Amino acid sequence: MSEINKEITKEIEKRRTFAIISHPDAGKTTLTEKFLLYGKAINTAGSVKGKKTSKHAVSDWMEIEKQRGISVTSSVLQFNYDGFCINILDTPGHEDFSEDTYRTLMAADSAVMVIDGSKGVEKQTIKLFKVCVLRHIPIFTFINKMDREANDPFDLIEDIENVLGIETCPINWPIGSGKDFRGVYERGENAITTFMATTNGQKEVDSEKIEWKDENKEELLAHIGDELFEKLSEDLELLDGASAEYDLARIRKGELTPVFFGSALTNFGVENFLRHFLDMTSSPLARNSSIGEISPISNDFSAFVFKIQANMNKAHRDRIAFMRIVSGQFKAGMEVFHVQGNKKVKLSQPQQMMAEERHIVETAYAGDIIGVFDPGLFSIGDTFTNAKEKFEFEGIPTFAPEHFARVRQIDTMKRKQFVKGINQIAQEGAIQIFQEFNTGMEEIIVGVVGVLQFDVLKFRLENEYNVDIRLEPLPYEYIRWVENDDIDINHISGTSDMKKIKDLKDNPLLLFVNPWSINMVLERNEGLKLSEFGTN
Ligand code: G4P
Repeated sequence: MSEINKEITKEIEKRRTFAIISHPDAGKTTLTEKFLLYGKAINTAGSVKGKKTSKHAVSDWMEIEKQRGISVTSSVLQFNYDGFCINILDTPGHEDFSEDTYRTLMAADSAVMVIDGSKGVEKQTIKLFKVCVLRHIPIFTFINKMDREANDPFDLIEDIENVLGIETCPINWPIGSGKDFRGVYERGENAITTFMATTNGQKEVDSEKIEWKDENKEELLAHIGDELFEKLSEDLELLDGASAEYDLARIRKGELTPVFFGSALTNFGVENFLRHFLDMTSSPLARNSSIGEISPISNDFSAFVFKIQANMNKAHRDRIAFMRIVSGQFKAGMEVFHVQGNKKVKLSQPQQMMAEERHIVETAYAGDIIGVFDPGLFSIGDTFTNAKEKFEFEGIPTFAPEHFARVRQIDTMKRKQFVKGINQIAQEGAIQIFQEFNTGMEEIIVGVVGVLQFDVLKFRLENEYNVDIRLEPLPYEYIRWVENDDIDINHISGTSDMKKIKDLKDNPLLLFVNPWSINMVLERNEGLKLSEFGTN
Protein backbone atom coordinates (compact mmCIF):
# COMPACT_ATOMS: atom_id res chain seq x y z
CA MET A 1 0.00 0.00 0.00
CA SER A 2 1.43 3.39 -0.95
CA GLU A 3 1.79 6.25 1.54
CA ILE A 4 -1.14 8.18 0.19
CA ASN A 5 -3.40 5.19 0.42
CA LYS A 6 -2.71 4.79 4.14
CA GLU A 7 -3.78 8.33 4.80
CA ILE A 8 -6.87 8.01 2.60
CA THR A 9 -7.79 4.74 4.29
CA LYS A 10 -7.54 6.31 7.71
CA GLU A 11 -9.75 9.21 6.71
CA ILE A 12 -12.36 6.99 5.08
CA GLU A 13 -12.52 4.56 7.95
CA LYS A 14 -13.37 7.25 10.45
CA ARG A 15 -16.33 8.47 8.40
CA ARG A 16 -19.99 7.76 9.17
CA THR A 17 -22.67 9.12 6.88
CA PHE A 18 -26.29 8.92 7.89
CA ALA A 19 -29.64 10.51 7.20
CA ILE A 20 -31.99 11.53 9.92
CA ILE A 21 -35.67 10.92 9.26
CA SER A 22 -38.88 11.60 11.11
CA HIS A 23 -42.34 13.01 10.95
CA PRO A 24 -42.35 16.80 11.42
CA ASP A 25 -42.04 17.82 15.06
CA ALA A 26 -40.74 14.50 16.34
CA GLY A 27 -37.50 16.27 17.24
CA LYS A 28 -35.13 15.67 14.33
CA THR A 29 -33.77 19.21 14.38
CA THR A 30 -33.29 19.16 18.13
CA LEU A 31 -31.51 15.81 18.06
CA THR A 32 -29.24 16.94 15.21
CA GLU A 33 -28.37 20.01 17.20
CA LYS A 34 -27.52 17.90 20.23
CA PHE A 35 -25.19 15.75 18.15
CA LEU A 36 -23.41 18.95 17.16
CA LEU A 37 -23.25 19.94 20.81
CA TYR A 38 -21.59 16.67 21.76
CA GLY A 39 -19.29 16.98 18.76
CA LYS A 40 -18.35 20.46 20.03
CA ALA A 41 -19.32 21.90 16.65
CA ILE A 42 -21.50 24.29 18.64
CA ASN A 43 -21.11 25.49 22.23
CA THR A 44 -24.66 26.01 23.28
CA ALA A 45 -27.75 24.30 22.00
CA GLY A 46 -30.61 26.51 20.94
CA SER A 47 -28.36 28.81 18.94
CA VAL A 48 -28.43 27.17 15.55
CA LYS A 49 -30.81 25.29 13.38
CA GLY A 50 -33.84 26.21 15.43
CA LYS A 51 -36.74 26.54 13.04
CA LYS A 52 -36.94 30.24 13.54
CA THR A 53 -33.27 30.90 13.10
CA SER A 54 -32.40 28.29 10.53
CA LYS A 55 -30.00 29.49 7.91
CA HIS A 56 -30.28 27.38 4.84
CA ALA A 57 -28.60 27.72 1.51
CA VAL A 58 -29.53 30.99 -0.07
CA SER A 59 -31.83 30.00 -2.85
CA ASP A 60 -34.25 31.83 -5.02
CA TRP A 61 -37.15 30.11 -3.43
CA MET A 62 -36.01 31.52 -0.11
CA GLU A 63 -39.11 33.66 -0.44
CA ILE A 64 -41.33 30.63 -0.30
CA GLU A 65 -39.33 29.34 2.61
CA LYS A 66 -39.73 32.62 4.40
CA GLN A 67 -43.43 32.91 3.70
CA ARG A 68 -44.13 29.43 4.91
CA GLY A 69 -41.54 29.30 7.65
CA ILE A 70 -40.22 26.01 6.37
CA SER A 71 -37.15 24.81 4.61
CA VAL A 72 -37.40 23.43 1.11
CA THR A 73 -33.76 22.50 0.84
CA SER A 74 -32.07 19.75 2.71
CA SER A 75 -28.61 20.22 4.08
CA VAL A 76 -25.57 18.26 5.12
CA LEU A 77 -23.68 18.81 8.31
CA GLN A 78 -20.25 17.50 9.20
CA PHE A 79 -18.72 17.27 12.64
CA ASN A 80 -16.16 15.25 14.58
CA TYR A 81 -16.83 13.16 17.63
CA ASP A 82 -14.50 10.80 19.44
CA GLY A 83 -12.21 10.31 16.46
CA PHE A 84 -15.08 9.86 14.01
CA CYS A 85 -15.96 12.25 11.22
CA ILE A 86 -19.72 12.31 10.98
CA ASN A 87 -21.86 13.49 8.08
CA ILE A 88 -25.51 14.04 8.87
CA LEU A 89 -27.89 14.39 5.98
CA ASP A 90 -30.81 16.41 7.16
CA THR A 91 -34.10 16.16 5.32
CA PRO A 92 -36.80 18.81 5.13
CA GLY A 93 -39.18 18.12 7.96
CA HIS A 94 -42.41 19.66 6.76
CA GLU A 95 -45.45 17.90 5.37
CA ASP A 96 -44.78 18.90 1.80
CA PHE A 97 -41.42 17.38 1.36
CA SER A 98 -40.04 16.70 -2.08
CA GLU A 99 -38.19 14.04 -4.01
CA ASP A 100 -34.97 15.45 -2.59
CA THR A 101 -35.97 14.07 0.76
CA TYR A 102 -36.08 10.59 -0.69
CA ARG A 103 -32.92 11.04 -2.72
CA THR A 104 -30.98 12.14 0.32
CA LEU A 105 -31.44 8.61 1.59
CA MET A 106 -29.59 7.35 -1.48
CA ALA A 107 -26.50 9.19 -0.30
CA ALA A 108 -26.60 7.82 3.27
CA ASP A 109 -25.15 4.59 4.63
CA SER A 110 -27.64 4.36 7.46
CA ALA A 111 -30.65 6.18 8.82
CA VAL A 112 -31.65 7.43 12.23
CA MET A 113 -35.40 7.35 12.69
CA VAL A 114 -36.70 9.76 15.31
CA ILE A 115 -40.09 8.88 16.77
CA ASP A 116 -42.15 10.97 19.16
CA GLY A 117 -42.72 8.80 22.23
CA SER A 118 -46.22 10.13 22.70
CA LYS A 119 -47.24 9.49 19.10
CA GLY A 120 -45.53 6.38 17.83
CA VAL A 121 -44.91 5.83 14.12
CA GLU A 122 -46.37 8.61 11.97
CA LYS A 123 -47.12 8.94 8.28
CA GLN A 124 -44.00 10.69 7.01
CA THR A 125 -41.78 8.18 8.77
CA ILE A 126 -43.51 5.31 6.98
CA LYS A 127 -42.76 6.81 3.57
CA LEU A 128 -39.12 7.46 4.31
CA PHE A 129 -38.72 4.13 6.02
CA LYS A 130 -39.83 2.35 2.83
CA VAL A 131 -36.95 3.93 0.95
CA CYS A 132 -34.48 2.78 3.62
CA VAL A 133 -35.84 -0.74 3.27
CA LEU A 134 -35.44 -0.56 -0.50
CA ARG A 135 -31.76 0.12 0.09
CA HIS A 136 -31.33 -2.39 2.95
CA ILE A 137 -29.52 0.22 5.00
CA PRO A 138 -29.37 -0.06 8.79
CA ILE A 139 -32.07 1.87 10.60
CA PHE A 140 -31.56 3.14 14.15
CA THR A 141 -34.59 4.18 16.14
CA PHE A 142 -34.48 6.99 18.67
CA ILE A 143 -37.72 7.27 20.63
CA ASN A 144 -37.73 10.88 21.63
CA LYS A 145 -39.54 13.15 24.09
CA MET A 146 -39.44 10.68 26.96
CA ASP A 147 -39.40 13.72 29.25
CA ARG A 148 -43.07 14.07 28.32
CA GLU A 149 -45.82 11.60 29.10
CA ALA A 150 -45.05 8.88 26.56
CA ASN A 151 -46.86 5.76 25.39
CA ASP A 152 -45.95 2.52 27.10
CA PRO A 153 -42.55 1.45 25.72
CA PHE A 154 -43.89 -2.02 24.87
CA ASP A 155 -46.66 -0.43 22.81
CA LEU A 156 -44.10 1.76 21.07
CA ILE A 157 -41.92 -1.14 19.96
CA GLU A 158 -44.97 -3.14 18.95
CA ASP A 159 -46.12 -0.21 16.87
CA ILE A 160 -42.76 -0.10 15.04
CA GLU A 161 -42.92 -3.83 14.39
CA ASN A 162 -46.54 -3.78 13.19
CA VAL A 163 -46.61 -0.58 11.19
CA LEU A 164 -43.14 -0.75 9.68
CA GLY A 165 -42.69 -4.49 9.61
CA ILE A 166 -39.17 -4.46 11.06
CA GLU A 167 -38.05 -6.36 14.13
CA THR A 168 -36.87 -4.30 17.08
CA CYS A 169 -34.11 -4.78 19.58
CA PRO A 170 -34.17 -2.24 22.42
CA ILE A 171 -30.60 -1.36 23.41
CA ASN A 172 -31.80 0.57 26.40
CA TRP A 173 -35.11 0.81 28.21
CA PRO A 174 -36.69 3.91 29.72
CA ILE A 175 -37.08 4.32 33.46
CA GLY A 176 -40.32 6.25 33.71
CA SER A 177 -41.49 9.00 31.42
CA GLY A 178 -42.62 12.60 31.70
CA LYS A 179 -41.33 14.32 34.81
CA ASP A 180 -40.51 10.88 36.19
CA PHE A 181 -38.10 10.07 33.38
CA ARG A 182 -35.03 9.16 35.41
CA GLY A 183 -32.81 7.50 32.90
CA VAL A 184 -32.42 4.28 31.00
CA TYR A 185 -31.51 0.69 31.67
CA GLU A 186 -28.61 -0.45 29.49
CA ARG A 187 -29.35 -3.97 28.40
CA GLY A 188 -25.84 -4.81 27.20
CA GLU A 189 -24.29 -3.67 30.48
CA ASN A 190 -27.01 -4.67 32.91
CA ALA A 191 -26.77 -1.23 34.46
CA ILE A 192 -28.92 1.82 34.75
CA THR A 193 -27.80 5.26 33.67
CA THR A 194 -29.51 8.11 35.43
CA PHE A 195 -29.27 11.62 34.09
CA MET A 196 -28.89 14.91 35.81
CA ALA A 197 -30.81 17.76 34.26
CA THR A 198 -28.91 20.73 32.94
CA THR A 199 -30.17 24.15 32.01
CA ASN A 200 -32.76 23.45 29.36
CA GLY A 201 -30.49 20.95 27.68
CA GLN A 202 -28.20 23.71 26.52
CA LYS A 203 -25.14 21.92 27.79
CA GLU A 204 -24.07 18.29 27.80
CA VAL A 205 -25.84 16.25 30.45
CA ASP A 206 -24.10 14.46 33.33
CA SER A 207 -24.99 10.88 34.05
CA GLU A 208 -24.30 8.21 36.59
CA LYS A 209 -24.11 4.48 36.00
CA ILE A 210 -25.14 1.87 38.57
CA GLU A 211 -25.03 -1.85 37.99
CA TRP A 212 -28.41 -3.59 38.22
CA LYS A 213 -27.68 -6.17 40.90
CA ASP A 214 -28.89 -7.16 44.36
CA GLU A 215 -26.06 -5.60 46.29
CA ASN A 216 -26.80 -2.25 44.68
CA LYS A 217 -30.50 -2.36 45.47
CA GLU A 218 -30.40 0.44 48.00
CA GLU A 219 -28.49 2.73 45.73
CA LEU A 220 -30.80 1.88 42.84
CA LEU A 221 -33.86 2.61 44.97
CA ALA A 222 -32.35 5.89 46.09
CA HIS A 223 -31.95 6.91 42.47
CA ILE A 224 -35.20 5.78 40.90
CA GLY A 225 -37.60 5.16 43.81
CA ASP A 226 -39.67 2.07 44.72
CA GLU A 227 -42.31 2.42 42.06
CA LEU A 228 -39.97 2.77 39.09
CA PHE A 229 -37.76 0.01 40.51
CA GLU A 230 -40.75 -2.39 40.55
CA LYS A 231 -41.87 -1.33 37.10
CA LEU A 232 -38.40 -1.74 35.62
CA SER A 233 -37.98 -5.19 37.22
CA GLU A 234 -41.25 -6.30 35.62
CA ASP A 235 -40.42 -4.74 32.26
CA LEU A 236 -37.05 -6.46 32.13
CA GLU A 237 -38.64 -9.85 32.65
CA LEU A 238 -41.09 -9.23 29.84
CA LEU A 239 -38.59 -7.62 27.52
CA ASP A 240 -36.60 -10.70 26.57
CA GLY A 241 -39.70 -12.35 25.18
CA ALA A 242 -41.06 -9.23 23.55
CA SER A 243 -38.17 -8.26 21.31
CA ALA A 244 -35.67 -9.84 18.97
CA GLU A 245 -32.15 -10.78 20.02
CA TYR A 246 -29.30 -8.40 19.37
CA ASP A 247 -27.70 -9.38 16.08
CA LEU A 248 -25.28 -6.91 14.49
CA ALA A 249 -25.30 -8.66 11.11
CA ARG A 250 -29.08 -8.28 10.89
CA ILE A 251 -28.89 -4.67 12.04
CA ARG A 252 -26.40 -3.93 9.28
CA LYS A 253 -28.69 -5.51 6.69
CA GLY A 254 -31.59 -3.37 7.86
CA GLU A 255 -33.59 -6.37 9.09
CA LEU A 256 -33.53 -5.40 12.74
CA THR A 257 -33.63 -1.94 14.23
CA PRO A 258 -31.87 -1.15 17.50
CA VAL A 259 -34.14 1.02 19.63
CA PHE A 260 -33.05 3.75 22.04
CA PHE A 261 -35.14 5.88 24.35
CA GLY A 262 -34.26 9.43 25.29
CA SER A 263 -35.04 13.08 25.19
CA ALA A 264 -33.28 15.33 22.72
CA LEU A 265 -34.52 18.42 24.49
CA THR A 266 -32.93 17.59 27.84
CA ASN A 267 -30.03 15.64 26.24
CA PHE A 268 -31.03 12.51 28.14
CA GLY A 269 -29.70 9.52 26.25
CA VAL A 270 -28.28 11.50 23.35
CA GLU A 271 -24.60 10.75 23.87
CA ASN A 272 -25.43 7.20 24.81
CA PHE A 273 -27.22 6.81 21.50
CA LEU A 274 -24.37 8.41 19.58
CA ARG A 275 -21.82 6.03 21.08
CA HIS A 276 -23.82 2.90 20.35
CA PHE A 277 -24.66 4.17 16.91
CA LEU A 278 -20.99 4.73 16.07
CA ASP A 279 -20.12 1.28 17.38
CA MET A 280 -22.77 -0.43 15.31
CA THR A 281 -22.45 1.41 12.01
CA SER A 282 -19.71 0.79 9.54
CA SER A 283 -17.50 3.17 7.62
CA PRO A 284 -18.67 4.14 4.08
CA LEU A 285 -20.18 1.27 2.17
CA ALA A 286 -19.25 -0.01 -1.28
CA ARG A 287 -21.72 0.88 -4.04
CA ASN A 288 -22.90 -1.09 -7.04
CA SER A 289 -21.82 0.00 -10.47
CA SER A 290 -21.78 -1.22 -14.06
CA ILE A 291 -18.46 -2.98 -13.34
CA GLY A 292 -19.45 -4.41 -9.96
CA GLU A 293 -18.96 -3.09 -6.46
CA ILE A 294 -16.81 0.01 -6.00
CA SER A 295 -14.96 -0.12 -2.70
CA PRO A 296 -14.59 3.16 -0.81
CA ILE A 297 -10.98 2.43 0.06
CA SER A 298 -9.20 3.27 -3.12
CA ASN A 299 -6.82 5.79 -4.59
CA ASP A 300 -9.35 6.48 -7.34
CA PHE A 301 -11.96 9.11 -6.74
CA SER A 302 -15.57 8.37 -7.67
CA ALA A 303 -18.88 10.01 -6.79
CA PHE A 304 -22.49 10.28 -7.91
CA VAL A 305 -24.92 13.17 -7.98
CA PHE A 306 -27.99 12.75 -5.79
CA LYS A 307 -29.34 16.26 -5.73
CA ILE A 308 -29.22 19.38 -7.85
CA GLN A 309 -30.07 22.75 -6.48
CA ALA A 310 -30.65 25.52 -8.93
CA ASN A 311 -30.16 29.24 -9.00
CA MET A 312 -28.51 29.76 -5.69
CA ASN A 313 -27.22 32.90 -7.33
CA LYS A 314 -29.88 34.40 -9.56
CA ALA A 315 -27.47 36.63 -11.46
CA HIS A 316 -25.61 33.62 -12.81
CA ARG A 317 -28.41 31.12 -12.97
CA ASP A 318 -26.00 28.57 -11.63
CA ARG A 319 -26.70 25.24 -10.10
CA ILE A 320 -25.02 23.23 -7.40
CA ALA A 321 -24.78 19.49 -7.87
CA PHE A 322 -24.52 17.61 -4.58
CA MET A 323 -22.55 14.44 -4.80
CA ARG A 324 -21.76 11.60 -2.52
CA ILE A 325 -18.14 10.55 -2.72
CA VAL A 326 -18.06 6.79 -3.03
CA SER A 327 -14.34 6.13 -3.21
CA GLY A 328 -10.99 7.76 -2.75
CA GLN A 329 -10.14 11.34 -2.14
CA PHE A 330 -11.40 14.58 -3.61
CA LYS A 331 -9.19 17.61 -4.03
CA ALA A 332 -10.48 21.04 -4.92
CA GLY A 333 -10.19 21.83 -8.61
CA MET A 334 -9.42 18.25 -9.60
CA GLU A 335 -10.25 17.08 -13.11
CA VAL A 336 -12.47 14.04 -13.29
CA PHE A 337 -14.32 12.16 -15.96
CA HIS A 338 -18.05 12.86 -16.14
CA VAL A 339 -19.25 9.50 -17.39
CA GLN A 340 -22.71 10.47 -18.67
CA GLY A 341 -21.30 13.58 -20.37
CA ASN A 342 -18.40 11.52 -21.74
CA LYS A 343 -15.81 14.18 -21.02
CA LYS A 344 -13.38 15.49 -18.45
CA VAL A 345 -14.61 18.26 -16.20
CA LYS A 346 -13.07 20.32 -13.46
CA LEU A 347 -15.09 20.15 -10.27
CA SER A 348 -15.04 23.75 -9.21
CA GLN A 349 -16.17 25.70 -6.17
CA PRO A 350 -16.58 22.60 -4.05
CA GLN A 351 -18.60 23.33 -0.93
CA GLN A 352 -19.37 21.59 2.27
CA MET A 353 -21.54 22.44 5.22
CA MET A 354 -19.95 22.70 8.63
CA ALA A 355 -22.52 23.27 11.34
CA GLU A 356 -24.65 25.87 9.59
CA GLU A 357 -21.86 27.46 7.61
CA ARG A 358 -21.20 26.76 3.97
CA HIS A 359 -17.53 26.77 3.13
CA ILE A 360 -15.14 25.80 0.38
CA VAL A 361 -13.55 22.39 0.80
CA GLU A 362 -10.00 21.58 -0.13
CA THR A 363 -10.11 17.87 0.49
CA ALA A 364 -12.90 15.39 1.02
CA TYR A 365 -13.12 11.61 1.22
CA ALA A 366 -15.41 8.69 0.50
CA GLY A 367 -18.48 9.12 2.66
CA ASP A 368 -18.46 12.90 2.38
CA ILE A 369 -20.96 15.02 0.51
CA ILE A 370 -19.78 17.94 -1.54
CA GLY A 371 -21.64 20.45 -3.65
CA VAL A 372 -19.93 21.50 -6.88
CA PHE A 373 -20.70 24.13 -9.44
CA ASP A 374 -22.82 22.68 -12.23
CA PRO A 375 -22.73 24.52 -15.55
CA GLY A 376 -26.05 22.90 -16.41
CA LEU A 377 -24.56 19.65 -17.65
CA PHE A 378 -25.10 17.30 -14.74
CA SER A 379 -28.14 15.21 -13.89
CA ILE A 380 -29.28 13.26 -10.87
CA GLY A 381 -27.51 9.91 -10.79
CA ASP A 382 -24.46 10.99 -12.87
CA THR A 383 -21.12 9.37 -12.12
CA PHE A 384 -17.74 11.11 -11.82
CA THR A 385 -14.44 9.30 -11.50
CA ASN A 386 -10.74 9.49 -12.18
CA ALA A 387 -10.34 5.72 -12.30
CA LYS A 388 -8.84 4.36 -15.53
CA GLU A 389 -11.74 2.02 -16.12
CA LYS A 390 -14.93 4.02 -16.59
CA PHE A 391 -18.17 2.90 -14.99
CA GLU A 392 -21.58 4.16 -13.94
CA PHE A 393 -23.12 3.84 -10.52
CA GLU A 394 -26.50 2.23 -10.24
CA GLY A 395 -29.26 4.73 -11.11
CA ILE A 396 -31.22 6.57 -8.47
CA PRO A 397 -34.83 5.44 -8.42
CA THR A 398 -37.57 7.81 -9.48
CA PHE A 399 -39.96 8.03 -6.60
CA ALA A 400 -43.66 7.91 -7.10
CA PRO A 401 -45.20 11.38 -7.17
CA GLU A 402 -48.43 11.60 -5.22
CA HIS A 403 -49.90 14.79 -6.62
CA PHE A 404 -50.59 15.58 -10.24
CA ALA A 405 -51.66 18.66 -12.14
CA ARG A 406 -52.13 19.66 -15.74
CA VAL A 407 -49.99 22.68 -16.62
CA ARG A 408 -51.56 25.41 -18.73
CA GLN A 409 -49.37 28.14 -20.10
CA ILE A 410 -51.10 31.49 -19.90
CA ASP A 411 -49.20 33.26 -22.67
CA THR A 412 -48.78 30.66 -25.40
CA MET A 413 -46.33 32.89 -27.26
CA LYS A 414 -43.69 32.03 -24.70
CA ARG A 415 -43.70 28.35 -25.56
CA LYS A 416 -39.92 28.13 -25.90
CA GLN A 417 -39.17 29.60 -22.47
CA PHE A 418 -41.87 27.44 -20.97
CA VAL A 419 -40.50 24.21 -22.42
CA LYS A 420 -36.95 25.16 -21.45
CA GLY A 421 -37.93 26.14 -17.93
CA ILE A 422 -40.06 23.15 -17.18
CA ASN A 423 -37.47 20.79 -18.60
CA GLN A 424 -34.66 22.32 -16.59
CA ILE A 425 -36.65 22.16 -13.40
CA ALA A 426 -37.54 18.55 -14.15
CA GLN A 427 -33.87 17.77 -14.84
CA GLU A 428 -33.01 19.00 -11.38
CA GLY A 429 -35.48 16.44 -10.14
CA ALA A 430 -37.83 18.86 -8.37
CA ILE A 431 -40.78 17.74 -10.48
CA GLN A 432 -41.56 14.96 -12.92
CA ILE A 433 -43.16 15.70 -16.24
CA PHE A 434 -45.44 13.46 -18.24
CA GLN A 435 -47.62 13.64 -21.30
CA GLU A 436 -50.95 12.21 -22.27
CA PHE A 437 -50.33 8.78 -23.69
CA ASN A 438 -51.67 9.38 -27.17
CA THR A 439 -51.16 13.09 -27.78
CA GLY A 440 -48.24 15.43 -28.36
CA MET A 441 -46.20 17.75 -26.14
CA GLU A 442 -48.97 20.36 -25.82
CA GLU A 443 -50.45 18.81 -22.72
CA ILE A 444 -48.02 18.56 -19.88
CA ILE A 445 -48.83 16.77 -16.67
CA VAL A 446 -46.64 17.47 -13.70
CA GLY A 447 -46.21 15.03 -10.85
CA VAL A 448 -44.72 15.96 -7.48
CA VAL A 449 -44.00 14.19 -4.24
CA GLY A 450 -45.11 17.12 -2.07
CA VAL A 451 -47.66 19.77 -3.12
CA LEU A 452 -45.27 22.54 -2.16
CA GLN A 453 -43.34 21.70 -5.32
CA PHE A 454 -46.26 23.03 -7.36
CA ASP A 455 -45.74 26.43 -5.76
CA VAL A 456 -42.00 26.18 -6.30
CA LEU A 457 -42.59 25.35 -9.98
CA LYS A 458 -44.97 28.25 -10.52
CA PHE A 459 -42.73 30.65 -8.62
CA ARG A 460 -39.62 29.65 -10.49
CA LEU A 461 -41.20 29.70 -13.95
CA GLU A 462 -42.45 33.21 -13.27
CA ASN A 463 -39.25 34.50 -11.70
CA GLU A 464 -36.57 32.76 -13.66
CA TYR A 465 -38.18 32.14 -17.04
CA ASN A 466 -40.79 34.88 -17.11
CA VAL A 467 -43.57 32.42 -17.86
CA ASP A 468 -46.98 32.42 -16.18
CA ILE A 469 -48.74 29.13 -15.75
CA ARG A 470 -51.97 27.82 -14.34
CA LEU A 471 -52.00 24.46 -12.60
CA GLU A 472 -55.16 22.37 -12.74
CA PRO A 473 -55.06 19.69 -10.07
CA LEU A 474 -55.84 16.14 -11.18
CA PRO A 475 -57.46 13.61 -8.84
CA TYR A 476 -54.76 10.92 -9.14
CA GLU A 477 -52.58 9.97 -6.19
CA TYR A 478 -50.92 6.76 -7.30
CA ILE A 479 -48.53 6.26 -10.19
CA ARG A 480 -47.18 2.95 -11.37
CA TRP A 481 -44.43 2.20 -13.82
CA VAL A 482 -45.28 -0.65 -16.19
CA GLU A 483 -42.41 -3.09 -15.86
CA ASN A 484 -43.31 -5.47 -18.69
CA ASP A 485 -41.30 -4.67 -21.85
CA ASP A 486 -43.51 -6.68 -24.12
CA ILE A 487 -46.89 -5.24 -23.25
CA ASP A 488 -48.97 -3.03 -25.53
CA ILE A 489 -50.28 -0.36 -23.22
CA ASN A 490 -53.25 0.24 -25.53
CA HIS A 491 -54.45 -3.23 -24.66
CA ILE A 492 -54.33 -2.80 -20.90
CA SER A 493 -57.81 -3.09 -19.59
CA GLY A 494 -58.20 -0.34 -17.02
CA THR A 495 -60.80 1.08 -14.70
CA SER A 496 -62.83 4.19 -15.51
CA ASP A 497 -60.71 6.30 -13.16
CA MET A 498 -57.34 5.10 -14.48
CA LYS A 499 -55.23 7.26 -16.79
CA LYS A 500 -52.50 6.21 -19.21
CA ILE A 501 -49.56 8.59 -19.52
CA LYS A 502 -45.93 8.44 -20.64
CA ASP A 503 -42.72 10.00 -19.41
CA LEU A 504 -40.25 11.93 -21.57
CA LYS A 505 -38.57 8.74 -22.62
CA ASP A 506 -41.94 7.37 -23.81
CA ASN A 507 -42.15 4.85 -21.00
CA PRO A 508 -45.77 4.01 -20.26
CA LEU A 509 -47.19 4.73 -16.82
CA LEU A 510 -50.55 4.43 -15.18
CA LEU A 511 -52.26 6.87 -12.84
CA PHE A 512 -54.80 5.76 -10.27
CA VAL A 513 -57.11 7.46 -7.84
CA ASN A 514 -56.96 4.75 -5.21
CA PRO A 515 -55.15 1.49 -4.40
CA TRP A 516 -58.33 -0.44 -5.06
CA SER A 517 -58.15 0.44 -8.78
CA ILE A 518 -54.53 -0.73 -8.90
CA ASN A 519 -55.53 -4.16 -7.63
CA MET A 520 -58.45 -4.27 -10.02
CA VAL A 521 -56.21 -3.55 -13.01
CA LEU A 522 -53.69 -6.16 -11.88
CA GLU A 523 -56.49 -8.70 -11.64
CA ARG A 524 -57.87 -7.82 -15.05
CA ASN A 525 -54.51 -8.01 -16.82
CA GLU A 526 -52.72 -11.23 -16.13
CA GLY A 527 -48.96 -10.97 -16.03
CA LEU A 528 -48.97 -7.17 -15.75
CA LYS A 529 -46.16 -5.97 -13.51
CA LEU A 530 -46.44 -2.54 -11.90
CA SER A 531 -43.76 -0.83 -9.84
CA GLU A 532 -43.80 2.02 -7.35
CA PHE A 533 -40.30 3.10 -8.34
CA GLY A 534 -38.88 3.87 -11.74
CA THR A 535 -35.18 4.23 -12.62
CA ASN A 536 -33.53 7.21 -14.19
P1 G4P B 1 -38.49 18.36 13.76
O1 G4P B 1 -37.16 18.87 13.33
O2 G4P B 1 -38.57 16.88 13.79
O3 G4P B 1 -39.64 18.99 13.05
O4 G4P B 1 -38.70 18.75 15.29
P2 G4P B 1 -37.96 19.83 16.21
O5 G4P B 1 -36.63 19.34 16.62
O6 G4P B 1 -38.06 21.17 15.60
O7 G4P B 1 -38.90 19.74 17.50
C1 G4P B 1 -40.27 20.05 17.46
C2 G4P B 1 -40.71 20.54 18.81
O8 G4P B 1 -40.54 19.50 19.77
C3 G4P B 1 -39.92 21.73 19.32
O9 G4P B 1 -40.78 22.51 20.10
C4 G4P B 1 -38.87 21.08 20.20
O10 G4P B 1 -38.37 21.95 21.18
C5 G4P B 1 -39.67 19.95 20.81
N1 G4P B 1 -38.83 18.83 21.22
C6 G4P B 1 -37.85 18.21 20.54
N2 G4P B 1 -37.31 17.22 21.27
C7 G4P B 1 -37.98 17.19 22.43
C8 G4P B 1 -37.87 16.40 23.62
O11 G4P B 1 -37.05 15.50 23.75
N3 G4P B 1 -38.76 16.68 24.61
C9 G4P B 1 -39.67 17.67 24.52
N4 G4P B 1 -40.46 17.87 25.56
N5 G4P B 1 -39.79 18.44 23.43
C10 G4P B 1 -38.95 18.21 22.40
P3 G4P B 1 -41.50 23.79 19.55
O12 G4P B 1 -42.23 24.37 20.71
O13 G4P B 1 -42.29 23.45 18.32
O14 G4P B 1 -40.36 24.68 19.06
P4 G4P B 1 -39.33 25.54 19.88
O15 G4P B 1 -40.01 26.85 20.00
O16 G4P B 1 -39.13 24.87 21.21
O17 G4P B 1 -38.12 25.54 19.03
